[in-house]
Amino acid sequence: MDRNKLVFANWKMNLDINSSTKLIKEILCRNLNYKNIDVVVAPPFVYLSEINNMLKNSQLRLSSQNVFYNDNGAFTGEISHEMLKDLGCEWVMIGHSERRIHLFETNEMINKKIIFSCKKDFNVIFCIGESYEERQKGKTFDVIKNQLNESLKNIENKYLHKIVIGYEPIWAIGSGSIPDLKDIQETHNFINHHLNEIYPNCDNLPRIVYGGSVDDSNIDSIMSLKNVDGVLVGSASLDCKKFCDIVLSVGK
Ligand code: 13P
Repeated sequence: MDRNKLVFANWKMNLDINSSTKLIKEILCRNLNYKNIDVVVAPPFVYLSEINNMLKNSQLRLSSQNVFYNDNGAFTGEISHEMLKDLGCEWVMIGHSERRIHLFETNEMINKKIIFSCKKDFNVIFCIGESYEERQKGKTFDVIKNQLNESLKNIENKYLHKIVIGYEPIWAIGSGSIPDLKDIQETHNFINHHLNEIYPNCDNLPRIVYGGSVDDSNIDSIMSLKNVDGVLVGSASLDCKKFCDIVLSVGK
């Protein structure tokens, strides 16, 4: 089945209101053609409303960087799906390694967030990936298998087309260099294989995108790999030229 490629911009905790709106304005001015490609930006929560107003009539889609697994109530500091819908979000990012490390998110919490997001009809980018130590010890596939099994538990086939797996080796994030292409290929093949094992005979399996030091200089080689359906971009998504060059490469 032919599926759209994805370019997902994770701004993390960067920029301010002026630089955020300036960046969006610059991207929109480039008038990129998004045929056969989904392009999604995930700014910090506090800029979503302003950016949503700018994206009306554009093909650029909006995501949050996190969400909670309840509708409302005594959950200080958390944000619900309905709140995100009010701000124009159609996507949520779940399980980023920075949240697992600094906010102690577990696979169990991530599973609840994915289930809730599916029921609320959101598109989900669900992040997985191994640490440097885990890779050194040859545990990459075990870690990934466990993240997939525990976080996708009880998720029905009918929701899978709304889920994208973001494979981000933690040690490649922000390092300025990507792993060997053969290692990226091997891991994406493994993820694809394991998804087929969990969901046999399913023709709408999640797309799999790569993240970790993606930029305009390595995008073509990453996209030449099999089972790579797009990219998850951090620091290069804060630079209009680099980001638009990445979108153009993925879309060609
Ligand atoms: P960098 O592109 O800055 O390495 O960040 C990747 C990332 O964490 C995207 O979610």
